[in-house]
Amino acid sequence: MTLSTTRQASAPQILDRCRELVRPALVESVSRLHPWHAETAAFSLGWSGASGEPAPGSQGKGVRQALAVLGAEAAGGSGADAVGGAVAVELIHTFSLIHDDIMDGDETRRRRPALWKAYGTGPAVLAGDAMFALAVSTLAEAPGPGGAAAVRRMAGALGDLVRGQAQDLLFESRPWTGPEAVLPREYRTMATHKTGSLLGCAAALGAVLAGAPPSTAQALDRAGRHLGVAFQAVDDLLGIWGDPQVTGKPVHSDLRRLKKTYPVLAALTADHPAARRLEALLTAEEPLDDAAARRAAELTDAAGGRRAVVAEAREHLASARACLDRAPLAEGARGDLLTLIPYLVDRTA
Ligand code: IPE
Ligand code: MG
Ligand code: MG
Repeated sequence: MTLSTTRQASAPQILDRCRELVRPALVESVSRLHPWHAETAAFSLGWSGASGEPAPGSQGKGVRQALAVLGAEAAGGSGADAVGGAVAVELIHTFSLIHDDIMDGDETRRRRPALWKAYGTGPAVLAGDAMFALAVSTLAEAPGPGGAAAVRRMAGALGDLVRGQAQDLLFESRPWTGPEAVLPREYRTMATHKTGSLLGCAAALGAVLAGAPPSTAQALDRAGRHLGVAFQAVDDLLGIWGDPQVTGKPVHSDLRRLKKTYPVLAALTADHPAARRLEALLTAEEPLDDAAARRAAELTDAAGGRRAVVAEAREHLASARACLDRAPLAEGARGDLLTLIPYLVDRTA
């Protein structure tokens, strides 16, 4: 009898393996930018500081590039098939965060000044545009028969991402309660668009570039969209109760901007005295100062907003797993996806 000695890689090992596979192509792609944009891209990707110095610990998790690689492997191809798509989704993600920090007025990201704070708003808008254009050309040049379908998929995901950002911004001026209040299902649609579309697209692009049939790409896309809702609800939670030293982002910024985040929306629906006090605080005339934002965070917790995020995230994780379980995927990559997905939801940064 032989016992299997193959061990499932951990999520950080999976992210590292995929990052190493994609990195040379990402470096090559960025080197094609105008030198000013190559500098701002290196800053945003966490490769260097504002004066070109090394910037240890400033890189993102590389989730989207990993999903692209695993999507190709899950479709029976090799990770190398996905590299053009992986570079493209990582560039799109970085561009979207650069512009998002301007829209949200957030001054820090990954424990450093946001790009607009370090270089100015105009240069940051342009840096994002340059990365967007580079993403499209990199994907359009990706070898293999799936190229045109991959570009179509990314264009669709981009449209959804921008739609989600619009919904998120428009929610800021909607009331907290009453007939015009944002409903949990509207939040889910917004999060599916702004966060899920690119996660789903990443995994699907890998599959498409590896020659997978549309049904496999669709299953991966759907799994990524569910992951996106779970990921965003947890992102909202970390924006209220996370440690800014660990998240690298400001705390309570969403509360002060009256962002319709999942924990607050859920707390307001609770039949609990804390929910009514929270409502009074949020609908008061004065903007929230530091103390009021801390109080809003406490009331949101007391009314069950934090527990509601955990329940919501669990539900969408289960749906993501179900999409993967039903699809005909290569077992090793399926295992890696099933390891990675809960790790991304059960996180502190
Ligand atoms: C960012 O959403 C989503 C996109 C850039 C498309 P958030 O504004 O909620 O994310 P963070 O908290 O700034 O990372
Ligand atoms: Mg933001
Ligand atoms: Mg935002």
